[in-house]
Amino acid sequence: MSLIPRSFIDELIARASIVEVIGARIALKKAGHEYKACCPFHTEKTPSFWVSPEKQFYHCFGCGAHGTALSFLMEHDRLPFPEAVEELASSLGLTVPREQGAGAPRRTSETLYELMGRVAQFYSQSLRGDERARRYLERRGLNPEVIERFAIGYAPNSWHELLKRFGGTDEGRRRLVELGLVIEREAAPGGQAERLYDRFRDRIMFPIRDARGRVLAFGGRVIDQGEPKYLNSPETALFHKGRELYGLYEVRQSRATLAQLLVVEGYLDVVRLHQFGVPCAVATLGTATTPEHLKRIFQLVPSVVFAFDGDRAGRAAAWRALQNSLPEAVEGREIRFLFLPEGEDPDTLIAREGREAFENRLSRQALLLSEYLVRELGDRIPTRGADGRARVAQAARPLLQQVPEGIYRRLLAERLAQAFGFQQTPAGMAELLGVSIGQPLELGRPASALGRGSLVRQAIRLLLHFPQAAARIPTERIEGLKEVEEPGAQLLRTLLLELQAEPAATTGQVLERWRERADGVHLARLAAAETLVPGAPAAERELDQALERLVDQSGRRRLDRLLEKDRAAGAAGLSREEKLEIQRLTIELSRHRSVAPGP
Ligand code: GTP
Ligand code: MN
Repeated sequence: MSLIPRSFIDELIARASIVEVIGARIALKKAGHEYKACCPFHTEKTPSFWVSPEKQFYHCFGCGAHGTALSFLMEHDRLPFPEAVEELASSLGLTVPREQGAGAPRRTSETLYELMGRVAQFYSQSLRGDERARRYLERRGLNPEVIERFAIGYAPNSWHELLKRFGGTDEGRRRLVELGLVIEREAAPGGQAERLYDRFRDRIMFPIRDARGRVLAFGGRVIDQGEPKYLNSPETALFHKGRELYGLYEVRQSRATLAQLLVVEGYLDVVRLHQFGVPCAVATLGTATTPEHLKRIFQLVPSVVFAFDGDRAGRAAAWRALQNSLPEAVEGREIRFLFLPEGEDPDTLIAREGREAFENRLSRQALLLSEYLVRELGDRIPTRGADGRARVAQAARPLLQQVPEGIYRRLLAERLAQAFGFQQTPAGMAELLGVSIGQPLELGRPASALGRGSLVRQAIRLLLHFPQAAARIPTERIEGLKEVEEPGAQLLRTLLLELQAEPAATTGQVLERWRERADGVHLARLAAAETLVPGAPAAERELDQALERLVDQSGRRRLDRLLEKDRAAGAAGLSREEKLEIQRLTIELSRHRSVAPGP
Protein backbone atom coordinates (compact mmCIF):
# COMPACT_ATOMS: atom_id res chain seq x y z
CA MET A 1 0.00 0.00 0.00
CA SER A 2 2.50 2.58 1.12
CA LEU A 3 5.30 2.70 -1.34
CA ILE A 4 7.83 4.42 0.83
CA PRO A 5 11.19 2.91 -0.09
CA ARG A 6 12.62 0.63 2.59
CA SER A 7 15.98 2.33 2.28
CA PHE A 8 14.44 5.63 3.28
CA ILE A 9 12.91 4.20 6.43
CA ASP A 10 16.24 2.67 7.24
CA GLU A 11 17.98 5.99 6.83
CA LEU A 12 15.28 7.72 8.82
CA ILE A 13 15.76 5.43 11.80
CA ALA A 14 19.52 5.79 11.52
CA ARG A 15 19.24 9.57 11.59
CA ALA A 16 16.43 10.10 14.06
CA SER A 17 16.96 10.36 17.77
CA ILE A 18 14.45 8.35 19.72
CA VAL A 19 15.23 10.44 22.79
CA GLU A 20 14.26 13.60 20.94
CA VAL A 21 11.12 12.09 19.49
CA ILE A 22 9.89 10.76 22.82
CA GLY A 23 11.34 13.63 24.84
CA ALA A 24 9.28 16.08 22.79
CA ARG A 25 6.15 14.30 23.95
CA ILE A 26 6.76 13.19 27.52
CA ALA A 27 9.25 14.27 30.18
CA LEU A 28 12.32 12.04 30.16
CA LYS A 29 14.86 11.81 32.94
CA LYS A 30 18.42 10.75 32.32
CA ALA A 31 19.42 7.57 34.16
CA GLY A 32 22.86 6.28 33.28
CA HIS A 33 23.10 5.62 29.55
CA GLU A 34 19.35 5.56 29.24
CA TYR A 35 16.32 7.70 29.94
CA LYS A 36 13.29 6.91 32.00
CA ALA A 37 9.77 8.23 32.48
CA CYS A 38 6.36 7.31 33.73
CA CYS A 39 4.91 5.19 30.96
CA PRO A 40 2.55 7.07 28.63
CA PHE A 41 0.75 3.84 27.78
CA HIS A 42 -0.45 2.85 31.20
CA THR A 43 -1.07 4.57 34.51
CA GLU A 44 1.77 4.43 36.98
CA LYS A 45 3.38 6.46 39.73
CA THR A 46 6.97 5.25 39.50
CA PRO A 47 8.77 5.23 36.16
CA SER A 48 9.19 1.91 34.43
CA PHE A 49 9.41 3.25 30.90
CA TRP A 50 12.96 3.20 29.51
CA VAL A 51 14.40 4.72 26.37
CA SER A 52 17.74 3.58 25.06
CA PRO A 53 19.55 5.97 22.71
CA GLU A 54 22.11 3.31 21.91
CA LYS A 55 19.52 0.83 20.78
CA GLN A 56 17.04 3.40 19.48
CA PHE A 57 14.43 1.41 21.31
CA TYR A 58 11.97 1.97 24.15
CA HIS A 59 10.54 -0.50 26.58
CA CYS A 60 8.13 -0.39 29.50
CA PHE A 61 8.72 -2.99 32.18
CA GLY A 62 5.26 -2.30 33.55
CA CYS A 63 3.00 -2.88 30.57
CA GLY A 64 5.40 -4.36 28.04
CA ALA A 65 5.01 -1.54 25.49
CA HIS A 66 8.07 -1.42 23.28
CA GLY A 67 9.35 -0.34 19.90
CA THR A 68 11.21 2.15 17.78
CA ALA A 69 10.80 5.89 17.24
CA LEU A 70 8.25 5.08 14.54
CA SER A 71 6.34 2.70 16.79
CA PHE A 72 6.20 5.41 19.40
CA LEU A 73 4.69 7.88 16.96
CA MET A 74 2.17 5.29 15.88
CA GLU A 75 1.19 4.37 19.42
CA HIS A 76 1.43 7.73 21.12
CA ASP A 77 0.27 10.08 18.36
CA ARG A 78 -1.96 7.36 16.97
CA LEU A 79 -0.67 7.69 13.47
CA PRO A 80 -0.82 4.98 10.85
CA PHE A 81 2.58 3.86 9.65
CA PRO A 82 2.89 6.11 6.56
CA GLU A 83 1.90 9.17 8.57
CA ALA A 84 4.37 8.29 11.32
CA VAL A 85 7.06 8.15 8.66
CA GLU A 86 5.94 11.55 7.33
CA GLU A 87 5.99 13.00 10.81
CA LEU A 88 9.44 11.72 11.67
CA ALA A 89 10.80 12.76 8.28
CA SER A 90 9.46 16.28 8.51
CA SER A 91 10.89 16.68 12.01
CA LEU A 92 14.28 15.95 10.44
CA GLY A 93 13.63 18.22 7.48
CA LEU A 94 13.45 15.28 5.07
CA THR A 95 10.92 14.68 2.33
CA VAL A 96 9.51 11.20 2.01
CA PRO A 97 10.32 9.90 -1.44
CA ARG A 98 7.59 7.82 -3.07
CA GLU A 99 8.14 5.00 -5.42
CA GLN A 100 6.16 4.86 -8.67
CA GLY A 101 2.49 4.21 -8.30
CA ALA A 102 1.95 5.96 -4.96
CA GLY A 103 -1.54 7.36 -4.54
CA ALA A 104 -1.30 11.12 -4.31
CA PRO A 105 0.76 12.92 -6.90
CA ARG A 106 3.75 14.18 -5.05
CA ARG A 107 4.55 17.31 -6.97
CA THR A 108 1.24 19.11 -6.73
CA SER A 109 -0.32 17.50 -3.65
CA GLU A 110 1.01 20.17 -1.33
CA THR A 111 -0.91 22.87 -3.11
CA LEU A 112 -4.02 20.74 -3.47
CA TYR A 113 -4.09 20.17 0.29
CA GLU A 114 -3.58 23.86 0.87
CA LEU A 115 -6.39 24.79 -1.45
CA MET A 116 -8.69 22.29 0.29
CA GLY A 117 -7.76 23.85 3.60
CA ARG A 118 -8.58 27.33 2.38
CA VAL A 119 -11.91 26.21 0.97
CA ALA A 120 -12.78 24.55 4.31
CA GLN A 121 -11.96 27.78 6.06
CA PHE A 122 -14.17 29.66 3.71
CA TYR A 123 -17.07 27.28 4.43
CA SER A 124 -16.56 27.72 8.19
CA GLN A 125 -16.64 31.46 7.75
CA SER A 126 -19.82 31.33 5.71
CA LEU A 127 -21.46 29.28 8.43
CA ARG A 128 -20.73 32.02 10.93
CA GLY A 129 -22.35 34.50 8.56
CA ASP A 130 -25.44 32.47 7.76
CA GLU A 131 -28.26 32.60 10.22
CA ARG A 132 -30.36 29.88 8.60
CA ALA A 133 -27.53 27.33 8.46
CA ARG A 134 -26.57 28.04 12.06
CA ARG A 135 -30.15 27.63 13.18
CA TYR A 136 -30.38 24.30 11.41
CA LEU A 137 -27.34 22.95 13.25
CA GLU A 138 -28.71 24.26 16.49
CA ARG A 139 -31.97 22.46 15.80
CA ARG A 140 -29.97 19.28 15.15
CA GLY A 141 -28.50 19.74 18.62
CA LEU A 142 -24.90 20.60 17.73
CA ASN A 143 -23.12 22.91 20.12
CA PRO A 144 -20.61 25.55 18.95
CA GLU A 145 -17.71 23.65 20.45
CA VAL A 146 -18.35 20.50 18.43
CA ILE A 147 -19.01 22.53 15.27
CA GLU A 148 -15.58 24.04 15.75
CA ARG A 149 -13.93 20.72 16.55
CA PHE A 150 -15.25 19.14 13.37
CA ALA A 151 -14.71 22.34 11.37
CA ILE A 152 -18.26 22.11 10.08
CA GLY A 153 -19.16 24.80 7.55
CA TYR A 154 -21.71 26.00 5.05
CA ALA A 155 -21.54 26.25 1.27
CA PRO A 156 -23.48 29.35 0.21
CA ASN A 157 -26.40 29.11 -2.12
CA SER A 158 -24.52 30.17 -5.24
CA TRP A 159 -23.37 28.51 -8.47
CA HIS A 160 -20.08 30.39 -8.60
CA GLU A 161 -18.96 31.24 -5.11
CA LEU A 162 -15.83 29.03 -5.07
CA LEU A 163 -15.10 29.89 -8.68
CA LYS A 164 -15.17 33.55 -7.80
CA ARG A 165 -12.95 33.17 -4.74
CA PHE A 166 -10.49 30.46 -5.72
CA GLY A 167 -10.83 30.18 -9.49
CA GLY A 168 -9.29 33.44 -10.59
CA THR A 169 -6.78 31.78 -12.91
CA ASP A 170 -6.90 28.89 -15.36
CA GLU A 171 -4.67 26.95 -13.00
CA GLY A 172 -6.95 27.75 -10.06
CA ARG A 173 -10.05 26.59 -11.94
CA ARG A 174 -8.29 23.45 -13.07
CA ARG A 175 -7.43 22.58 -9.49
CA LEU A 176 -10.98 23.22 -8.27
CA VAL A 177 -12.19 20.76 -10.89
CA GLU A 178 -9.47 18.30 -9.95
CA LEU A 179 -10.59 18.48 -6.32
CA GLY A 180 -14.20 17.87 -7.28
CA LEU A 181 -15.29 21.20 -5.86
CA VAL A 182 -16.30 22.56 -9.23
CA ILE A 183 -18.07 20.62 -11.95
CA GLU A 184 -17.39 20.97 -15.64
CA ARG A 185 -20.45 20.79 -17.86
CA GLU A 186 -20.11 18.42 -20.81
CA ALA A 187 -21.43 20.50 -23.70
CA ALA A 188 -20.67 24.19 -23.47
CA PRO A 189 -23.25 26.26 -25.25
CA GLY A 190 -22.53 29.36 -23.19
CA GLY A 191 -19.35 31.22 -22.42
CA GLN A 192 -16.46 30.19 -20.17
CA ALA A 193 -18.09 31.07 -16.88
CA GLU A 194 -21.21 29.06 -17.63
CA ARG A 195 -19.27 25.90 -18.31
CA LEU A 196 -18.15 25.55 -14.69
CA TYR A 197 -20.20 25.55 -11.50
CA ASP A 198 -19.77 24.82 -7.79
CA ARG A 199 -20.63 21.28 -6.74
CA PHE A 200 -21.77 22.19 -3.23
CA ARG A 201 -24.51 24.80 -2.93
CA ASP A 202 -26.60 25.63 0.09
CA ARG A 203 -25.34 22.68 2.10
CA ILE A 204 -23.92 22.01 5.55
CA MET A 205 -20.33 20.99 4.91
CA PHE A 206 -18.49 18.26 6.79
CA PRO A 207 -14.77 18.25 6.00
CA ILE A 208 -13.22 14.79 5.77
CA ARG A 209 -9.68 14.92 7.08
CA ASP A 210 -6.70 12.62 7.05
CA ALA A 211 -4.63 11.52 10.03
CA ARG A 212 -2.74 14.80 9.99
CA GLY A 213 -5.83 16.93 9.84
CA ARG A 214 -5.54 17.86 6.19
CA VAL A 215 -8.88 18.24 4.42
CA LEU A 216 -9.26 15.62 1.69
CA ALA A 217 -12.92 15.96 0.77
CA PHE A 218 -16.34 17.09 1.95
CA GLY A 219 -19.71 15.65 2.70
CA GLY A 220 -22.54 18.13 2.22
CA ARG A 221 -26.02 17.83 3.70
CA VAL A 222 -29.06 19.70 2.51
CA ILE A 223 -30.64 21.95 5.04
CA ASP A 224 -33.92 20.35 6.07
CA GLN A 225 -35.45 18.51 3.13
CA GLY A 226 -34.09 17.95 -0.35
CA GLU A 227 -32.50 15.50 -2.74
CA PRO A 228 -29.95 14.15 -2.54
CA LYS A 229 -29.78 14.41 1.24
CA TYR A 230 -26.02 14.00 1.18
CA LEU A 231 -23.59 14.90 -1.52
CA ASN A 232 -20.00 13.73 -1.22
CA SER A 233 -16.83 14.78 -2.98
CA PRO A 234 -16.00 12.43 -5.84
CA GLU A 235 -12.87 10.31 -5.77
CA THR A 236 -9.91 12.58 -6.38
CA ALA A 237 -6.15 12.45 -6.15
CA LEU A 238 -6.53 13.15 -2.43
CA PHE A 239 -9.68 11.23 -1.62
CA HIS A 240 -10.52 7.55 -1.82
CA LYS A 241 -13.69 6.92 0.04
CA GLY A 242 -13.00 3.23 0.52
CA ARG A 243 -10.00 4.18 2.59
CA GLU A 244 -11.05 7.15 4.71
CA LEU A 245 -13.13 7.19 7.83
CA TYR A 246 -15.00 10.30 8.83
CA GLY A 247 -14.03 11.39 12.34
CA LEU A 248 -10.78 9.47 12.62
CA TYR A 249 -8.73 12.64 12.92
CA GLU A 250 -11.06 13.99 15.59
CA VAL A 251 -10.94 10.67 17.44
CA ARG A 252 -7.18 10.91 17.59
CA GLN A 253 -7.32 14.52 18.69
CA SER A 254 -9.61 13.69 21.59
CA ARG A 255 -6.71 11.91 23.28
CA ALA A 256 -8.98 9.65 25.25
CA THR A 257 -7.49 6.24 25.93
CA LEU A 258 -8.41 4.40 22.84
CA ALA A 259 -9.02 0.68 22.83
CA GLN A 260 -11.97 0.48 20.49
CA LEU A 261 -13.53 2.26 17.55
CA LEU A 262 -17.23 2.47 16.89
CA VAL A 263 -18.19 2.54 13.22
CA VAL A 264 -21.52 4.21 12.49
CA GLU A 265 -23.24 5.15 9.26
CA GLY A 266 -23.67 8.90 9.31
CA TYR A 267 -21.72 12.12 9.63
CA LEU A 268 -24.15 13.48 12.14
CA ASP A 269 -23.98 10.32 14.20
CA VAL A 270 -20.25 10.76 14.58
CA VAL A 271 -20.48 14.41 15.53
CA ARG A 272 -23.26 13.89 18.01
CA LEU A 273 -21.57 10.89 19.65
CA HIS A 274 -18.44 12.97 20.16
CA GLN A 275 -20.54 15.76 21.60
CA PHE A 276 -22.11 13.35 24.06
CA GLY A 277 -18.74 12.06 25.18
CA VAL A 278 -18.31 8.97 23.03
CA PRO A 279 -15.16 10.07 21.24
CA CYS A 280 -14.41 6.78 19.51
CA ALA A 281 -17.00 7.07 16.74
CA VAL A 282 -16.13 7.15 13.05
CA ALA A 283 -18.22 6.69 9.91
CA THR A 284 -17.66 5.16 6.53
CA LEU A 285 -18.50 7.60 3.79
CA GLY A 286 -21.71 6.28 2.33
CA THR A 287 -20.02 3.00 1.39
CA ALA A 288 -19.79 -0.39 2.98
CA THR A 289 -16.86 -0.91 5.31
CA THR A 290 -13.96 -2.09 3.18
CA PRO A 291 -11.12 -4.41 4.21
CA GLU A 292 -8.92 -1.35 3.84
CA HIS A 293 -10.96 0.49 6.47
CA LEU A 294 -10.54 -2.49 8.74
CA LYS A 295 -6.79 -2.46 8.21
CA ARG A 296 -6.69 1.17 9.25
CA ILE A 297 -8.82 0.52 12.27
CA PHE A 298 -6.69 -2.36 13.46
CA GLN A 299 -3.55 -0.30 13.11
CA LEU A 300 -4.99 1.81 15.88
CA VAL A 301 -7.06 -0.42 18.12
CA PRO A 302 -7.63 -4.13 18.67
CA SER A 303 -11.39 -3.86 18.86
CA VAL A 304 -14.14 -2.51 16.61
CA VAL A 305 -17.92 -2.33 16.95
CA PHE A 306 -20.17 -1.68 13.97
CA ALA A 307 -23.47 -0.04 14.76
CA PHE A 308 -26.39 -0.51 12.39
CA ASP A 309 -30.03 0.38 12.28
CA GLY A 310 -32.23 -2.55 13.21
CA ASP A 311 -34.20 -2.31 9.95
CA ARG A 312 -33.77 -4.30 6.74
CA ALA A 313 -31.25 -1.89 5.25
CA GLY A 314 -29.24 -1.94 8.45
CA ARG A 315 -29.14 -5.71 8.49
CA ALA A 316 -28.04 -5.85 4.89
CA ALA A 317 -25.29 -3.35 5.63
CA ALA A 318 -24.18 -5.38 8.64
CA TRP A 319 -23.94 -8.53 6.55
CA ARG A 320 -21.78 -6.68 4.03
CA ALA A 321 -19.59 -5.39 6.84
CA LEU A 322 -19.22 -8.91 8.17
CA GLN A 323 -18.13 -10.21 4.80
CA ASN A 324 -15.60 -7.44 4.39
CA SER A 325 -14.28 -8.00 7.90
CA LEU A 326 -13.43 -11.64 7.42
CA PRO A 327 -10.04 -11.09 5.76
CA GLU A 328 -9.00 -9.05 8.79
CA ALA A 329 -10.41 -11.40 11.41
CA VAL A 330 -7.47 -12.88 13.26
CA GLU A 331 -6.69 -13.74 16.85
CA GLY A 332 -6.12 -10.75 19.10
CA ARG A 333 -8.75 -8.70 17.31
CA GLU A 334 -12.34 -8.27 18.25
CA ILE A 335 -15.08 -7.45 15.76
CA ARG A 336 -18.59 -6.88 17.02
CA PHE A 337 -21.98 -5.85 15.68
CA LEU A 338 -24.53 -3.71 17.44
CA PHE A 339 -28.10 -3.50 16.19
CA LEU A 340 -30.03 -0.43 17.23
CA PRO A 341 -33.77 -0.41 17.88
CA GLU A 342 -35.76 0.14 14.72
CA GLY A 343 -36.16 3.73 13.69
CA GLU A 344 -33.21 4.91 15.74
CA ASP A 345 -29.75 5.91 14.69
CA PRO A 346 -26.89 6.62 17.11
CA ASP A 347 -27.69 10.31 16.98
CA THR A 348 -31.30 9.95 18.12
CA LEU A 349 -30.52 7.13 20.49
CA ILE A 350 -27.84 8.85 22.49
CA ALA A 351 -29.96 11.98 22.69
CA ARG A 352 -32.81 9.93 24.09
CA GLU A 353 -31.01 7.65 26.51
CA GLY A 354 -27.73 9.42 27.26
CA ARG A 355 -24.14 8.37 27.17
CA GLU A 356 -24.13 5.81 29.92
CA ALA A 357 -27.00 3.79 28.55
CA PHE A 358 -25.49 3.98 25.10
CA GLU A 359 -22.16 2.70 26.34
CA ASN A 360 -23.89 -0.09 28.17
CA ARG A 361 -25.50 -1.12 24.94
CA LEU A 362 -22.09 -1.11 23.31
CA SER A 363 -20.56 -3.37 25.89
CA ARG A 364 -23.56 -5.62 26.59
CA GLN A 365 -25.52 -5.92 23.38
CA ALA A 366 -22.89 -5.88 20.67
CA LEU A 367 -22.59 -9.40 19.21
CA LEU A 368 -19.25 -10.99 18.55
CA LEU A 369 -18.64 -11.70 14.90
CA SER A 370 -18.93 -15.43 15.58
CA GLU A 371 -22.27 -15.03 17.35
CA TYR A 372 -23.62 -12.73 14.70
CA LEU A 373 -22.58 -15.22 12.06
CA VAL A 374 -24.28 -18.08 13.89
CA ARG A 375 -27.45 -16.05 14.28
CA GLU A 376 -27.48 -14.89 10.70
CA LEU A 377 -26.82 -18.34 9.21
CA GLY A 378 -29.50 -19.73 11.46
CA ASP A 379 -31.95 -17.08 10.22
CA ARG A 380 -31.09 -17.42 6.57
CA ILE A 381 -30.90 -21.15 6.17
CA PRO A 382 -33.19 -23.98 7.16
CA THR A 383 -30.63 -25.77 9.30
CA ARG A 384 -32.61 -28.80 10.43
CA GLY A 385 -31.72 -32.33 9.47
CA ALA A 386 -28.92 -33.77 7.41
CA ASP A 387 -29.77 -31.48 4.50
CA GLY A 388 -29.64 -28.52 6.85
CA ARG A 389 -26.11 -29.27 7.82
CA ALA A 390 -25.07 -29.52 4.20
CA ARG A 391 -26.69 -26.15 3.53
CA VAL A 392 -24.89 -24.57 6.47
CA ALA A 393 -21.60 -25.99 5.30
CA GLN A 394 -22.22 -24.65 1.83
CA ALA A 395 -22.97 -21.18 3.13
CA ALA A 396 -20.18 -21.13 5.70
CA ARG A 397 -17.44 -22.44 3.47
CA PRO A 398 -16.84 -19.35 1.33
CA LEU A 399 -17.00 -17.19 4.43
CA LEU A 400 -14.51 -19.23 6.43
CA GLN A 401 -12.21 -19.35 3.46
CA GLN A 402 -11.83 -15.60 3.66
CA VAL A 403 -10.60 -15.73 7.23
CA PRO A 404 -6.81 -16.01 7.33
CA GLU A 405 -5.64 -19.43 8.32
CA GLY A 406 -4.91 -19.46 12.03
CA ILE A 407 -6.29 -19.76 15.50
CA TYR A 408 -9.21 -17.43 14.91
CA ARG A 409 -10.37 -19.38 11.89
CA ARG A 410 -10.19 -22.59 13.87
CA LEU A 411 -12.23 -21.15 16.71
CA LEU A 412 -14.79 -19.77 14.32
CA ALA A 413 -15.16 -23.12 12.61
CA GLU A 414 -15.48 -24.83 15.97
CA ARG A 415 -18.17 -22.41 17.02
CA LEU A 416 -20.15 -23.03 13.83
CA ALA A 417 -19.72 -26.76 14.22
CA GLN A 418 -21.00 -26.57 17.76
CA ALA A 419 -23.96 -24.37 16.85
CA PHE A 420 -25.09 -26.47 13.92
CA GLY A 421 -24.36 -29.94 15.21
CA PHE A 422 -21.31 -30.85 13.22
CA GLN A 423 -18.82 -33.42 14.36
CA GLN A 424 -16.38 -31.70 16.67
CA THR A 425 -13.11 -33.26 15.54
CA PRO A 426 -10.81 -31.03 13.48
CA ALA A 427 -10.78 -33.57 10.71
CA GLY A 428 -14.53 -33.79 10.68
CA MET A 429 -14.92 -30.06 10.53
CA ALA A 430 -12.32 -29.60 7.87
CA GLU A 431 -14.20 -32.09 5.79
CA LEU A 432 -17.55 -30.52 6.39
CA LEU A 433 -16.41 -26.95 5.99
CA GLY A 434 -13.97 -27.67 3.22
CA VAL A 435 -11.20 -25.52 4.63
CA SER A 436 -7.99 -26.27 6.34
CA ILE A 437 -8.14 -25.32 9.95
CA GLY A 438 -4.82 -26.84 10.87
CA GLN A 439 -2.45 -25.33 13.38
CA PRO A 440 -0.40 -22.71 11.56
CA LEU A 441 2.06 -22.53 14.43
CA GLU A 442 3.55 -25.79 13.34
CA LEU A 443 4.40 -24.51 9.92
CA GLY A 444 6.95 -21.66 10.01
CA ARG A 445 7.14 -21.51 13.75
CA PRO A 446 7.68 -17.93 14.93
CA ALA A 447 10.48 -16.88 17.21
CA SER A 448 8.11 -16.70 20.15
CA ALA A 449 7.90 -20.44 20.08
CA LEU A 450 11.61 -20.65 20.87
CA GLY A 451 12.45 -22.18 24.19
CA ARG A 452 13.32 -19.68 26.87
CA GLY A 453 17.00 -20.35 27.03
CA SER A 454 17.48 -21.91 23.62
CA LEU A 455 20.65 -21.14 21.75
CA VAL A 456 18.72 -19.81 18.78
CA ARG A 457 16.88 -17.43 21.00
CA GLN A 458 20.07 -16.36 22.69
CA ALA A 459 21.77 -15.70 19.36
CA ILE A 460 18.85 -13.72 17.97
CA ARG A 461 18.69 -11.69 21.15
CA LEU A 462 22.38 -10.84 20.90
CA LEU A 463 21.99 -9.84 17.28
CA LEU A 464 19.07 -7.60 18.07
CA HIS A 465 21.02 -5.78 20.72
CA PHE A 466 24.32 -5.72 18.86
CA PRO A 467 23.57 -5.90 15.15
CA GLN A 468 27.18 -4.98 14.41
CA ALA A 469 28.25 -8.33 15.83
CA ALA A 470 27.00 -9.97 12.63
CA ALA A 471 29.84 -8.46 10.63
CA ARG A 472 32.58 -10.75 11.84
CA ILE A 473 30.74 -14.07 11.89
CA PRO A 474 32.43 -16.38 9.36
CA THR A 475 30.31 -17.37 6.38
CA GLU A 476 30.74 -21.12 6.97
CA ARG A 477 29.22 -20.74 10.37
CA ILE A 478 26.16 -19.03 8.96
CA GLU A 479 25.90 -21.63 6.23
CA GLY A 480 26.16 -24.32 8.88
CA LEU A 481 22.82 -23.06 10.22
CA LYS A 482 21.11 -24.29 7.06
CA GLU A 483 21.04 -27.80 8.45
CA VAL A 484 19.91 -26.83 11.92
CA GLU A 485 16.33 -27.90 12.42
CA GLU A 486 15.62 -26.05 15.62
CA PRO A 487 12.73 -23.58 15.47
CA GLY A 488 13.95 -20.12 14.56
CA ALA A 489 17.29 -21.27 13.14
CA GLN A 490 16.38 -20.16 9.63
CA LEU A 491 15.20 -16.82 10.94
CA LEU A 492 18.56 -16.46 12.65
CA ARG A 493 20.35 -17.32 9.44
CA THR A 494 18.35 -14.77 7.45
CA LEU A 495 19.06 -12.12 10.07
CA LEU A 496 22.78 -12.81 9.92
CA LEU A 497 22.96 -12.83 6.14
CA GLU A 498 20.97 -9.63 5.86
CA LEU A 499 22.98 -7.85 8.51
CA GLN A 500 26.19 -8.82 6.78
CA ALA A 501 24.90 -7.56 3.45
CA GLU A 502 23.50 -4.41 5.02
CA PRO A 503 24.89 -3.60 8.45
CA ALA A 504 22.62 -1.88 10.96
CA ALA A 505 23.71 0.26 13.88
CA THR A 506 20.84 -0.11 16.32
CA THR A 507 18.10 -2.41 17.52
CA GLY A 508 15.57 0.08 16.20
CA GLN A 509 16.96 -0.09 12.72
CA VAL A 510 16.78 -3.88 12.61
CA LEU A 511 13.24 -3.91 13.90
CA GLU A 512 12.07 -1.37 11.34
CA ARG A 513 13.46 -3.55 8.57
CA TRP A 514 11.32 -6.38 9.90
CA ARG A 515 8.22 -4.36 10.61
CA GLU A 516 6.06 -5.78 7.86
CA ARG A 517 7.46 -9.29 7.89
CA ALA A 518 5.94 -12.27 9.59
CA ASP A 519 8.53 -12.48 12.36
CA GLY A 520 8.81 -8.75 13.02
CA VAL A 521 6.50 -8.81 16.01
CA HIS A 522 8.38 -11.70 17.60
CA LEU A 523 11.69 -9.99 17.09
CA ALA A 524 10.43 -6.81 18.74
CA ARG A 525 9.10 -8.81 21.65
CA LEU A 526 12.36 -10.63 22.01
CA ALA A 527 14.26 -7.33 21.99
CA ALA A 528 12.01 -6.03 24.74
CA ALA A 529 11.95 -9.20 26.80
CA GLU A 530 15.63 -9.11 27.49
CA THR A 531 17.03 -7.03 30.27
CA LEU A 532 20.54 -8.32 30.83
CA VAL A 533 22.78 -8.09 27.85
CA PRO A 534 26.56 -8.11 27.90
CA GLY A 535 28.70 -5.31 26.52
CA ALA A 536 29.49 -5.22 22.81
CA PRO A 537 32.79 -7.19 22.76
CA ALA A 538 31.39 -9.91 24.98
CA ALA A 539 28.26 -10.03 22.82
CA GLU A 540 30.26 -10.76 19.74
CA ARG A 541 32.06 -13.60 21.45
CA GLU A 542 28.84 -15.00 22.87
CA LEU A 543 27.14 -14.86 19.53
CA ASP A 544 29.95 -16.68 17.85
CA GLN A 545 29.94 -19.36 20.51
CA ALA A 546 26.19 -19.72 20.44
CA LEU A 547 26.31 -20.26 16.70
CA GLU A 548 29.08 -22.76 16.97
CA ARG A 549 27.25 -24.72 19.61
CA LEU A 550 24.06 -24.65 17.61
CA VAL A 551 25.68 -26.13 14.55
CA ASP A 552 27.49 -28.51 16.82
CA GLN A 553 24.38 -29.67 18.62
CA SER A 554 22.51 -30.21 15.45
CA GLY A 555 25.43 -32.20 14.05
CA ARG A 556 25.51 -34.30 17.17
CA ARG A 557 21.82 -35.00 16.92
CA ARG A 558 22.18 -36.01 13.31
CA LEU A 559 25.10 -38.26 14.25
CA ASP A 560 23.09 -39.87 17.03
CA ARG A 561 20.29 -40.58 14.63
CA LEU A 562 22.63 -42.16 12.11
CA LEU A 563 24.30 -44.30 14.75
CA GLU A 564 20.93 -45.38 16.03
CA LYS A 565 19.85 -46.37 12.56
CA ASP A 566 23.11 -48.22 12.12
CA ARG A 567 22.57 -50.19 15.30
CA ALA A 568 19.00 -51.05 14.44
CA ALA A 569 19.56 -52.13 10.86
CA GLY A 570 23.12 -53.39 10.87
CA ALA A 571 25.85 -51.93 8.69
CA ALA A 572 24.02 -52.92 5.51
CA GLY A 573 21.18 -50.58 6.39
CA LEU A 574 23.17 -47.38 5.87
CA SER A 575 23.83 -45.92 2.49
CA ARG A 576 27.26 -44.90 1.33
CA GLU A 577 26.37 -41.22 1.83
CA GLU A 578 25.22 -41.90 5.34
CA LYS A 579 28.42 -43.69 6.21
CA LEU A 580 30.45 -40.81 4.83
CA GLU A 581 28.38 -38.38 6.83
CA ILE A 582 29.09 -40.30 10.02
CA GLN A 583 32.76 -39.93 9.29
CA ARG A 584 32.49 -36.23 8.52
CA LEU A 585 30.41 -35.48 11.59
CA THR A 586 32.72 -37.43 13.88
CA ILE A 587 35.70 -35.45 12.70
CA GLU A 588 33.97 -32.08 12.89
CA LEU A 589 32.52 -32.70 16.30
CA SER A 590 35.79 -33.82 17.79
CA ARG A 591 37.38 -30.65 16.45
CA HIS A 592 34.78 -28.52 18.23
CA ARG A 593 34.84 -30.38 21.50
CA SER A 594 37.25 -27.96 23.14
CA VAL A 595 34.85 -25.01 22.59
CA ALA A 596 31.57 -26.72 23.32
CA PRO A 597 31.69 -28.92 26.36
CA GLY A 598 29.10 -31.59 25.77
CA PRO A 599 26.46 -32.50 28.33
P1 GTP B 1 -29.42 12.91 9.19
O1 GTP B 1 -30.59 12.49 8.37
O2 GTP B 1 -29.07 14.32 8.98
O3 GTP B 1 -29.52 12.51 10.60
O4 GTP B 1 -28.16 12.20 8.62
P2 GTP B 1 -27.73 10.71 8.82
O5 GTP B 1 -26.25 10.77 8.85
O6 GTP B 1 -28.44 10.07 9.94
O7 GTP B 1 -28.21 10.11 7.44
P3 GTP B 1 -28.67 8.67 7.04
O8 GTP B 1 -28.77 7.75 8.21
O9 GTP B 1 -29.87 8.87 6.17
O10 GTP B 1 -27.47 8.22 6.12
C1 GTP B 1 -26.27 7.74 6.66
C2 GTP B 1 -25.14 8.10 5.74
O11 GTP B 1 -25.38 7.61 4.44
C3 GTP B 1 -24.93 9.58 5.56
O12 GTP B 1 -24.16 10.16 6.58
C4 GTP B 1 -24.27 9.64 4.23
O13 GTP B 1 -22.88 9.36 4.33
C5 GTP B 1 -24.95 8.54 3.47
N1 GTP B 1 -26.10 9.07 2.72
C6 GTP B 1 -27.35 9.26 3.14
N2 GTP B 1 -28.12 9.79 2.19
C7 GTP B 1 -27.34 9.94 1.12
C8 GTP B 1 -27.55 10.43 -0.21
O14 GTP B 1 -28.60 10.88 -0.58
N3 GTP B 1 -26.46 10.40 -1.04
C9 GTP B 1 -25.27 9.93 -0.65
N4 GTP B 1 -24.24 9.94 -1.53
N5 GTP B 1 -25.03 9.47 0.58
C10 GTP B 1 -26.05 9.46 1.47
MN1 MN C 1 -29.62 10.61 11.44
